[in-house]
Amino acid sequence: MPKRNPTVPKHIACVMDGNGRWAEQRGLARIEGHKMGEHSLFEAVEGAIELGVEWLTVYAFSTENWKRPPDEVKFLIGFNDDILLRRQDELNEMGVQIRFVGRNDWRVPKRLVNRMNEASALTKGNKKLKFTIAFNYGGRAEIADAVKSLMASGVSADKVNERMIARHLYDPDMPEVDLMIRTSGEFRTSNFLLWHLAYSEMWFTDTLWPDFTRAHMADAVADFQQRGRRYGGVTA
Ligand code: FPP
Repeated sequence: MPKRNPTVPKHIACVMDGNGRWAEQRGLARIEGHKMGEHSLFEAVEGAIELGVEWLTVYAFSTENWKRPPDEVKFLIGFNDDILLRRQDELNEMGVQIRFVGRNDWRVPKRLVNRMNEASALTKGNKKLKFTIAFNYGGRAEIADAVKSLMASGVSADKVNERMIARHLYDPDMPEVDLMIRTSGEFRTSNFLLWHLAYSEMWFTDTLWPDFTRAHMADAVADFQQRGRRYGGVTA
């Protein structure tokens, strides 16, 4: 029997999936599902704090999400901006440190970049939870960008190792993910945090993201604590 793991995961990553289906099931426009997802996002943040999780990372917008209908893309960009504007003070008071990962390319509006910088600066001294928003994020893009940055640093090929690549990722301080949660009955990683998910435990639920609560997160953590993690080794 592998040893159980009584610890709380240090880093949880969430794929907030199922907003569109939640809305469609109710005959509503897809964006109504995203709007409802804001409540679940705060459930996840508060749940993580209650459980003693140190890092929570959410997939807010992927490098592939630009392929969605232009109206939905526009909505999602504005929505991220709007949530930060409306709720950054509240997150700050909760002791949440807001961080971002993703590719800062020409498609991300300057206004949103400024908002992200403002939210990071406002909350940078907070210690309760490191809450990272992955925006215009793709796992393969992150690894490609890390390699590009590593090569630009002038390192010779024979010196390249895993630790060095990790130091050139978008956030070199981000620890590996211990537990990935994906809602809506989909069993994929969808290019999320590829590097950090290497040894992550996965937890899936049929619940659609707008119905996700802190109780689901507690269930996921309880399940995590029943699992034996071997990292490719064997258990004594
Ligand atoms: C996936 O559902 C969800 C998204 C693409 C975006 C979710 C974004 C938020 C909840 C807001 C995040 C904001 C901040 C500031 C972190 P889907 O549309 O793929 O659902 P479907 O699979 O049912 O179509």
